[in-house]
Amino acid sequence: MHTYRIAVIGGDGIGPEVVSAGVEVLEAVAARCGDFTFAFDRFDWGGEYYKRHGRMMPEDGRQQIRHHDAILFGSAGHPEIPDHITLWGLRLAICQGFDQYANVRPTRMLPGITSPLRAVSGQEINWVIVRENSEGEYSGVGGRVHQGLALEAATDVSVLTRGGVERIMRFAFRLAQSRPRRRLTVVTKSNAQRHAMVLWDEVAAAVAAEFPDVTWDKMLVDAMTVRMVLHPESIDTVVATNLHADILSDLAAALSGSLGIAPTANLNPERAFPSMFEPIHGSAFDIMGKGIANPIGTFWSAVLLLEHLGEKAAAARLMRAIERVTAEPRWHTPDLGGKATTAEVTEAVIAAIAADNG
Ligand code: IPM
Ligand code: MG
Repeated sequence: MHTYRIAVIGGDGIGPEVVSAGVEVLEAVAARCGDFTFAFDRFDWGGEYYKRHGRMMPEDGRQQIRHHDAILFGSAGHPEIPDHITLWGLRLAICQGFDQYANVRPTRMLPGITSPLRAVSGQEINWVIVRENSEGEYSGVGGRVHQGLALEAATDVSVLTRGGVERIMRFAFRLAQSRPRRRLTVVTKSNAQRHAMVLWDEVAAAVAAEFPDVTWDKMLVDAMTVRMVLHPESIDTVVATNLHADILSDLAAALSGSLGIAPTANLNPERAFPSMFEPIHGSAFDIMGKGIANPIGTFWSAVLLLEHLGEKAAAARLMRAIERVTAEPRWHTPDLGGKATTAEVTEAVIAAIAADNG
């Protein structure tokens, strides 16, 4: 029987709570399927680790998880530590160091959950946002000079490379091709940003020629927000730069009912490095320790993890269990307007996994 080694990094805020729930649920799926097991290695990296050691993870942190089959991640962010330190010291250090250049964010209306959009009752929202995850606005290029003086200057330079754009476009076109509607929207801002975003558009058009069976269009990012709200049914697969997709995916999560249910995969598609799976909601310190964090975002991320491992049947089984649970308002956490706790939702999903006969 195959054993998958998973590195578990709870991180900060509600991260450790939802990630332990995720581990329980993954164990339940493996037990129910019976043909594979998990070995979980836990790492206490994050803000508290930083307070003790002056860094978010050990210097050889990436080496320690380099040979795991996948990483399950909670969140990074601590009220006593500047956000750019927690982010660059842990999450981005892993994403960039492991070249997880394709960030995949599915959005779908789960049963029992209501969209704030009046016209949406279900199928109108069924999107996958592909976020370029290695360069662009998050390339880390820039600097500050003359700090504190009136002539202080600071830059964050958005860098796109032809190779970086080509690989994310190919990934997005391939993903769009694998979905029933075979439709891709390339988000851009090449009207105002006249260098890197123009390269982005040119490469998109060149890669599109390799995928004649995919219908694609191009949309300015500001207009895309309007389209997501007014014509959600016209959208299927979306590809955007790091920052654009960061913003659009929060909007997508809100339109699908709650940030608490939204999942992410940070993929190295070539599998040269492990990929990382995490809920998109962040550390949410205001509800930390209250036991009310919504674990569904982590469970759905665990579905993506199982798919990445090639365990398609297990992934489908977990997704069915999630949908059975969201369908019942008594299992809704406060972010969804309910009263359920993290532990109750976790137990309900585990019970649904055990009861699943598919
Ligand atoms: C996300 C988050 C992160 C990001 C934060 C925590 C820095 O918002 O995964 O979307 O901007 O990448
Ligand atoms: Mg975000």
